[in-house]
Amino acid sequence: MKSRDTLKMAAAKAALSFVPDRQYIGIGSGSTVDIFIQELAKSGKPVAGCVPASDSTRDGLLKAGLKIVDLGTGYPLGFYFDGADEINSEGVMIKGGGGALTREKIIAASSETFICMVDESKVVDSLGHFPLAVEVIAMATKHVSAEIKKMGGQPTERQNFETDNGNIILDIEGLDLTKASKVESDINNIAGIVSNGLFSFCRCSQAIIGTEGGVDFKVFQKN
Ligand code: 5RP
Repeated sequence: MKSRDTLKMAAAKAALSFVPDRQYIGIGSGSTVDIFIQELAKSGKPVAGCVPASDSTRDGLLKAGLKIVDLGTGYPLGFYFDGADEINSEGVMIKGGGGALTREKIIAASSETFICMVDESKVVDSLGHFPLAVEVIAMATKHVSAEIKKMGGQPTERQNFETDNGNIILDIEGLDLTKASKVESDINNIAGIVSNGLFSFCRCSQAIIGTEGGVDFKVFQKN
């Protein structure tokens, strides 16, 4: 049986074929993205510059010798490359396991095409086994927690963690995510929320899935 890292590597390598020459691209965050960065650097593809979704991705890109640009320079981006914690059959994702969800969503929203690279363990029939990360301004923690509980969720503050934006993360379990767009909007309407890790409005355009049997490509309808 292949390891998850091997499957992530297969997905990341396959994603290289989508990297356009001499254009700015967006780059997400996480271990799959870290592999993608290494492979991109090795490939020698002529990328004009990368917009990173986290401080850690920025550091990784610089170390790999790739050029960084801010979103103002690159906007709008043709392609955004990122991983996910869960992805369903419509390309709706849960993201934010690494806490970079806000910048990830900003860059995804600023990009024409979102390429999601995952190992097959991330593909789910129904979203929500992985806790939903919500970035919250610290003073709103009690209020946001109370509102989330009214929605049926159980929030837990991520310990010893501060986002790149200086905020906290609540990880939510128990929400019914069947109507993902409604839940995404409802959570965003709570005062004190910065963003949440449901990506239904910014669903991916294409998933590249590393599986035991090879790499699968899935194309999704734009919403
Ligand atoms: C970080 C993310 C990542 O894309 C997600 O957590 C997947 O990470 P990995 O590639 O390490 O499995 O949303 O905020």
